Amino acid sequence: MDVTTLIAPHGGALCDLILTDAEAEDVKQTARDLPSITLTSRQLCDIELLLNGAFSPLRGFLNRADYDRVVDEMRLEDGTLWPMPITLDVSEAQAQQLSAGDEVALRDPTGLLLAVLTVEDVWKADKAREAQKVFGTTSKEHPAVAYLFDEAGDYYVGGPLRGLQLPPHYDFEALRRTPKEVRALFEEQGWEQVVAFQTRNPMHRAHKELTDRAAEEVGGHLLIHPVVGMTKPGDIDYYTRVRCYKKLLESYPEGRATISLLPLAMRMGGPREAVWHALIRKNYGCTHFIVGRDHAGPGSDSSGTPFYGPYEAQDLVLELEEELGIKLVPFRLMVYVPEDDAYAPIDEVKEAGKKFEMISGTQLRDLLQEGAEIPSWFSYPTVVEELRRSHPPKEKQGFTVFFTGLSGSGKSTIANALVDRLLEITGRPVTLLDGDVVRTHLSKGLGFSAEDRSTNVQRIGFVASEITKHGGIAVCAPIAPYEADRRANRDLIEAGGGYVEVFVDTPLEVCEQRDVKGLYAKARAGIIKGFTGIDDPYEAPTDAEIVCPTAEQSVEASVDQIVEELKALGYLTHNGAA
Ligand code: ADX
Ligand code: MG
Repeated sequence: MDVTTLIAPHGGALCDLILTDAEAEDVKQTARDLPSITLTSRQLCDIELLLNGAFSPLRGFLNRADYDRVVDEMRLEDGTLWPMPITLDVSEAQAQQLSAGDEVALRDPTGLLLAVLTVEDVWKADKAREAQKVFGTTSKEHPAVAYLFDEAGDYYVGGPLRGLQLPPHYDFEALRRTPKEVRALFEEQGWEQVVAFQTRNPMHRAHKELTDRAAEEVGGHLLIHPVVGMTKPGDIDYYTRVRCYKKLLESYPEGRATISLLPLAMRMGGPREAVWHALIRKNYGCTHFIVGRDHAGPGSDSSGTPFYGPYEAQDLVLELEEELGIKLVPFRLMVYVPEDDAYAPIDEVKEAGKKFEMISGTQLRDLLQEGAEIPSWFSYPTVVEELRRSHPPKEKQGFTVFFTGLSGSGKSTIANALVDRLLEITGRPVTLLDGDVVRTHLSKGLGFSAEDRSTNVQRIGFVASEITKHGGIAVCAPIAPYEADRRANRDLIEAGGGYVEVFVDTPLEVCEQRDVKGLYAKARAGIIKGFTGIDDPYEAPTDAEIVCPTAEQSVEASVDQIVEELKALGYLTHNGAA
């Protein structure tokens, strides 16, 4: 383990927590007998940046004293500026196995040994306090707060790390440079002033303008430093983004800009996160850092109130600039001014009384979904082409039609009829996951307890999500009586395509009267227990895309209704084919 100090201008002291080969041999031997913790995706990101020095001066996951002061004052116990708690969260059961002085092996999900941690503290997290102080809210509408409450373990383990190796990556290897490597690159190129650009979104003309202006302003070079760890749920995947950045990079003059990927797990922590980002870029050897509008902002809550002010992040970085040791390059919102065919800061544009335009990330995703034209003032043809490849319009995406309704409501009948109709008109692969049929294979052995019902419905949802992600059509027809399971399926499936819920709304009396399988009679006679609608609840959906009143309409009419709605939603083209 050594602390490499590189001379200014390329950052300050850099921790390198990876052991030498000789040291590593010993540690590997002893690690065999140590308890292990398998790191989560978030922890894998954190440990990579701890081990490679991007989080210098941290030498491990925060111990209790450092954590407390970071949460309260953005400082380590010794007073050093550090805005974000970097914690190793574990379950209560794991916490009980550990105490101060113990060593614990930290592994990736394949069992690969990444580091050994020497435990300094194990303590129960005060999550509400952490959320309020670090993110300014306890609302789970803030993604980091949701993560803290719903995903993170309840206990923290703190202590220094001895690193064996960085988590392995097999994608974009040439672009994944450590702080040491980035500094070396700058030295090699003779780049003295380097401004870093943080991003978790595709870069378009506004960002090109921003970075050009920044490089000019500092009279230096550019490091495009996109986050490829974890970003905000719903963001464009990084594989696509990196292909886009590579295209955009070609538009800078030779020798002006380079790109390196940052495996950071963002928290969307606004001002505190901006300070963290700046420190990280200093560690990568940059002299300047761009902070624009709403940097690392999580957006607004459901009432439309933004979690942070648009320039709060800039203000905090500016306030701490001297101590940070990296200079802020601030930007007001850059907008497009049609009359000048150019981008400019919004304040100037407004002052000049000029008209302006912009397209938000959400609007862009909508345009891609619709297959609509993306104006040339907004982006570059090569970038748009790349985005379209991984974000095809809705009519080319997979989707799931998920039927829910009482036993005997007509789900299977309508689902089968819909499958036939879809095969007739689309020429696409269609998979039917009928409740009763699924119970003969995928869910064989499951019964009708609340737990088994949930498992069954979520298994169907899992398979449907895979089909959807791969561009196919899944038609599901279980009873799916519980709202929570339908919600979980919707979230899972929507991540990879369309989810369309059909509530087959047939009154219980009608189902019971039909009693096709004779089950209602048995349920009433007490021969079958826990029958949906009789002695087990059916939670009727309130947010289904389609409601089919089968007591009043034929099977054909229901199929027509569904097909029309699929067209209206954009999943089928208007002549049906897709
Ligand atoms: S962030 O979560 O990483 O901040 P994003 O990738 O959208 O999101 O932004 C990266 C950086 O560019 C941030 O500093 C942000 O403020 C800045 N930025 C993005 N778009 C604009 C714009 N149109 N005008 C000014 N700054 C912008
Ligand atoms: Mg059925």
